[in-house]
Amino acid sequence: MSINIAIDGPAGAGKSTIARIVSAQLGYIYVDTGALYRAIALYIKENNITDENIPSSLKNADVSIKFIDGRQRVFLGDRDVSDIIRTPEISMEASRTSAIPSVREYLFGTQQKIARENNVIMDGRDIGTVVLPDADVKIFLTASAEERAVRRYKELADKPNCPCYEEILSDIIERDKNDMNRPVAPLKQADDAVLVDTTNLTLEQSADKIIKIITEKTKR
Ligand code: DC
Repeated sequence: MSINIAIDGPAGAGKSTIARIVSAQLGYIYVDTGALYRAIALYIKENNITDENIPSSLKNADVSIKFIDGRQRVFLGDRDVSDIIRTPEISMEASRTSAIPSVREYLFGTQQKIARENNVIMDGRDIGTVVLPDADVKIFLTASAEERAVRRYKELADKPNCPCYEEILSDIIERDKNDMNRPVAPLKQADDAVLVDTTNLTLEQSADKIIKIITEKTKR
């Protein structure tokens, strides 16, 4: 039986960076489910698919993930879209289209299959509540919206056309609202998840804390 760790939380809480460090140290595969939603958003945008046509078009999207040198890459057909799904436009489109039930249904089986076949640390919004309700360990990772905006601002500061802090903060607040208030699989802490607030923690401290929780809970 594979071991499954679910890490959920809002945008910019550090889930992917921390999950990557933790999975490398503990020897798990890290699965970033947000990338799957982003790839669908890109597909919808590039093909100008209207909302009413989304359910019938998804079967043609051909979204898949591969692990290359231990790192997840996301594909639309044969095309590796892992890098071009990281723009603010796709972030917002993914937040919007991930609320559509047919999109969630389409990705549900893909995520469960990966978790069945591998020891995974899977991050997202509904992993502990919907995708892997029987996960061995569930973590809800969060930080204040202001702290998440500061971190994103620092990441982007040396890039051309860097948005200002206020713009980043308002994007984060809007995405939180979308993700928490959608009727299907909203972002929320599972009853049996451990809450980790990283507002005042460094990356290393956050990773250490999570490694301790996982090690403790998976001790056989
Ligand atoms: O984690 P991320 O920012 O790359 O995710 C992009 C969007 O996808 C996010 O706004 C919400 C959605 N998402 C989701 O609804 N469920 C998941 N398991 C992962 C992401």
